Amino acid sequence: MNLSTNPAQRPGPYAPISFEADSPFLPVQGELPEGLQGTLVRNGPNPQFPQQGAHLFSGDGMLHAISLQAGRASYRNRWVRTAGWRAERAAGHSLYNAMGLPIDPADPALPALDEGVANTHVLPHAGRLFALEEAHLPIEIDAATLATRGACDFGGRLRGPFTAHPKTDPATGELHFFGYSAAGHFTPDISFGTLDAQGQVTRCERFVAPYSSMVHDFAITEHHLLFPVLPLTGSMARAQSGLPPWAWEPELGARVGILPRNAPAGDIRWFEGEACYVFHFMNAWEEIDARGHRLLKADVMRFDEAPLFPFADGRPTDRQRAVARLVRWTFDLDGKSDAFAQEPLDDLAGEFPRIDDRFTGRAHHHGWYACQREAVGGAGYEGLVHHDTQRGRRATWHLPPGDRLSEPVFVPRTPDAPEGEGWLLSMAQRTQEGRSDLLVLDAQDLASGPLATVQLSHRVPAGFHGSWLPGRFLHLD
Ligand SMILES: [Fe+2]
Repeated sequence: MNLSTNPAQRPGPYAPISFEADSPFLPVQGELPEGLQGTLVRNGPNPQFPQQGAHLFSGDGMLHAISLQAGRASYRNRWVRTAGWRAERAAGHSLYNAMGLPIDPADPALPALDEGVANTHVLPHAGRLFALEEAHLPIEIDAATLATRGACDFGGRLRGPFTAHPKTDPATGELHFFGYSAAGHFTPDISFGTLDAQGQVTRCERFVAPYSSMVHDFAITEHHLLFPVLPLTGSMARAQSGLPPWAWEPELGARVGILPRNAPAGDIRWFEGEACYVFHFMNAWEEIDARGHRLLKADVMRFDEAPLFPFADGRPTDRQRAVARLVRWTFDLDGKSDAFAQEPLDDLAGEFPRIDDRFTGRAHHHGWYACQREAVGGAGYEGLVHHDTQRGRRATWHLPPGDRLSEPVFVPRTPDAPEGEGWLLSMAQRTQEGRSDLLVLDAQDLASGPLATVQLSHRVPAGFHGSWLPGRFLHLD
């Protein structure tokens, strides 16, 4: 599978669909757990007007929601109606080129505001729902209808890019966020801040990273923020000379900035390590070692080389090395060295790690991710992995060959259930049948396979990330 070109020209799990639909009663195989009441909503790129050669990341966001309520399953999908999407819909054709830039910058059909494509994640906060990308403001969504409410700057307190991976602190309810290229395209400036539990911006600051990097995700712990600045770099000079704007420059090495949550931005401390790329953190937390040193640990899906992007001179990277595996990073906050350790935890290739979100920033004992079938390489994610670090066990479960799984989302059995006790939800593409299923598994017993399977009559593109909205349901006619 090659993700570097538009899936419309390359059929596969990410190939877009061309319609919006409602399905009020979906067939269910098996039995939906009684306590599983709410809506899974997922986001992913689904270009309205596919562009030859466009990057996967530049497709318009499409939301897919499945509500589970008293044994009934219902579905709705809607595009996120950004300013660009609305302008293209009105024009009846694409207004943007494969780089995501206006085909004709003087075209009066272009929207006044660039709201991006809102295609990466969809996340609730303070009773509201937001479709997130990483280079623009959040786009608010009506959770009951998936209607787009519009870009949200929180009363003018938020400007510039907002990550698709903000982190909710389970103790305070605060949402911690950041944005890279915060002072303009390819700048090394990173903004960060906090929305309180009521959805008010209570902090927004900036620092300058060692170099301009595509920073897709970050991590919080109880007392720290952790910013990975890894050598997938941005360069205006390259962009202006026809070279790749974003490129893999391993000679720069890996840098990770650590900042106490209550400290000013200037207190950030930079650690250095071997070059690698990380799209996604599983989690991060704090420990004290036998010497009394404060350690910060983070479990990440680490690529030896960044996938999806070339070297700075345009040469492709090695696809065999562009595979992610679970790795633990350790930072000694009381040590003299600024080096950090990277320890492999598994040889399975995988992505889209998730935990029981009630343990964000705290030591966790259960983690899940989508994995490939073999230890090395492969096309797409065909399996799910569960790491139980307390018992030292790893469980896997795989789909039939050729089918594809999306990011697993954990749902606790009850709000106060023990960590990891609940269900794992994942969309499965039935490649031969050209349609998808929602799978519901016991998160502690993947090997037994799905407890229930919700059957759709069409294919849901693979997409990126999603959230479970407990007790909230789609309003269908
Ligand atoms: Fe992501």
